[in-house]
Amino acid sequence: MDNQADGLREVMKEQRRSKRPLRIIGITSGKGGVGKTNVAANLGVIAAKQGMRVLIIDGDMGLANVEILYGIRPRHHLGHLLQGDVSARDVLATTTSGVKVLPAGNGLQQLTRLDDAQRLRLVSALEELEDDFDVVLLDSGAGIGDNVLFFVGAAQEALLVVSPEPTSLTDAYATIKVLCQDAGVRYFDVVVNQAGNETQARDIFQKLTAVAGRFLDAKVRWLGWVPRDENVHRAVMAQRPLVELFPSSPATRALNGVADALFNEPPPAHLAGGLKFLWSRLLRDSNAA
Ligand SMILES: Nc1ncnc2c1ncn2[C@@H]1O[C@H](COP(=O)(O)OP(=O)(O)O)[C@@H](O)[C@H]1O
Ligand SMILES: [Mg+2]
Repeated sequence: MDNQADGLREVMKEQRRSKRPLRIIGITSGKGGVGKTNVAANLGVIAAKQGMRVLIIDGDMGLANVEILYGIRPRHHLGHLLQGDVSARDVLATTTSGVKVLPAGNGLQQLTRLDDAQRLRLVSALEELEDDFDVVLLDSGAGIGDNVLFFVGAAQEALLVVSPEPTSLTDAYATIKVLCQDAGVRYFDVVVNQAGNETQARDIFQKLTAVAGRFLDAKVRWLGWVPRDENVHRAVMAQRPLVELFPSSPATRALNGVADALFNEPPPAHLAGGLKFLWSRLLRDSNAA
């Protein structure tokens, strides 16, 4: 009986896996403050509401990080996992939206200098988590510093958030270039955030594709745009996800559209892998560094 139940569970797990390969999406931007964390946190909630099992890895040490936006106070972070203090599942924080959060804490910095025991702990922890999720969103700090490059570069897709500020565009282009040339990322989903209107947003995207397409082997895809909306700030202050607190606000409606484009029309090809692949790339790169 037990064997049969185990067998059935395995089959179902396998079916789930074949229907929905785990997607690992690195949220990135050229400069800080464009809205990465807000986009990540809210896309996570929307995906969870659609029945996806979502993990957000919070690599942002900034002020308004994912934990703040969800109003949670996680007790553990990746650093504790690496030290062997907690198990993979215990390191995850639960939110009322159903999204799980893995705070990176100081663990992200440690990834570049793990000893063998820590490496083993990490790989087996991630194996354990692999089947628990459909989508992993990586929210990192700004820019293309070493850890961010490792982090997003190891994901299969990058979601690039740009804002209408002129420097945002040049920084975004530099980010595409580095991620593409140095880290081998090929797919870039672009969200124009804090735009005044659709024409402005499309214009920014057009400029980005023009430069990216001319020089690089990168596929840049329009995911959508999110208007500048005061409710975003209000939700941050309330420490509640915007899409829950203001379900009919302009930004929420736009984010729903972005989520549809992102989750219902995945990019044409996927790299094999999943979480284990992500971390093995991280570790390989950190060894080589
Ligand atoms: N669509 C938007 N409309 C208005 N304000 C926004 C919007 N998106 C983000 N913000 C504001 O911009 C600031 C930075 O957002 P955040 O998500 O923390 O950026 P990042 O993670 O890229 O540094 C926050 O204070 C947030 O309230
Ligand atoms: Mg952030």
